[in-house]
Amino acid sequence: MKKKLKVKSQVWYVVIILIVLLIGGRYAYQKYQEMEYQKTNEYKLTTIGYTKKEAQTLIKKLSTKDITYLLELEEADEVIVNLLKEKYFIPQYFTKYYEYYLKEKEEDLTKVVATINTNTDQEYYSLDLKTDMSKGDAILVNKYYRLEADYTPDDLVSVSMDYAWGDYGSIKVRQVVYDNFLNMWQEAQNSGFYLMINSAFRSYAEQEEVYNNYKESYGENYANSIAAKPGYSEHQTGLSIDVFSKTNSNRNTFKDSEAAKWLANNAHRFGFILRYPEDKVDLTGYNYESWHFRYVGTDIATYIYENKITFDEYYKFFLEK
Ligand code: DAL
Ligand code: ZN
Repeated sequence: MKKKLKVKSQVWYVVIILIVLLIGGRYAYQKYQEMEYQKTNEYKLTTIGYTKKEAQTLIKKLSTKDITYLLELEEADEVIVNLLKEKYFIPQYFTKYYEYYLKEKEEDLTKVVATINTNTDQEYYSLDLKTDMSKGDAILVNKYYRLEADYTPDDLVSVSMDYAWGDYGSIKVRQVVYDNFLNMWQEAQNSGFYLMINSAFRSYAEQEEVYNNYKESYGENYANSIAAKPGYSEHQTGLSIDVFSKTNSNRNTFKDSEAAKWLANNAHRFGFILRYPEDKVDLTGYNYESWHFRYVGTDIATYIYENKITFDEYYKFFLEK
């Protein structure tokens, strides 16, 4: 009987020891986990003022290098959280956005993102980037991305003189542009507008002439706001057309014509975009051109039309690798 009791109390000792070990172990493990968590960037970000949820978003969207940059700032900034919420935020440009915001004191973060995405924080013609020709109808040509001087599209076709001004056969576009232009022309005609092209493909040499003529007539600054330097003109792609109506080809007044309004609201259905809109001068680098339409295909054109962005912004966000 006595022995039995002794065994029983020994079992109890063992049970108690096990319980103590278990509780102690759990406590130690929790402490260990806590210490490990304190080593994480998530924890470090919360210590400088970000919420746990914000810290998780920052870590998800930004690189480790960017997180280190944030920690070095030693204080959370709401602007950073808001930057990440911008529709066209591109993670790799994060520090550029933030530094531009700080430098320019630009509170409009949509503008900050658009400026960096379009390179317009940089001086025009300062980057000298060769455009990626593999993008086909969606190639980007602007004041930063250029074509080779000898580039000529290999499928240029002459626009019928029924739809073009100029010397016979002198107005040329790429085949895909012509096919879609003809469809657009017909619909415009059905709506009471007779569209006419007065300039389309221009070779490097022709663009040089256009640019130099403007420069001589109006000076360099104004020339730069209305014409591209050779190599930097979309006209050299064969994808751009300057379209007016038979009754109005005046660059000053065309914008107010019904034909211009029809084009602005319908061209996307045929794959064309109004390339240099009135309210995007800062992003395109060109004055409003109510006549300059660029073929990009209907999907891209419709997105750009519906979301009111420029092709430069679209390209950076959706197309550039
Ligand atoms: N007028 C447009 C911007 C060009 O020269 O290409
Ligand atoms: Zn043009």
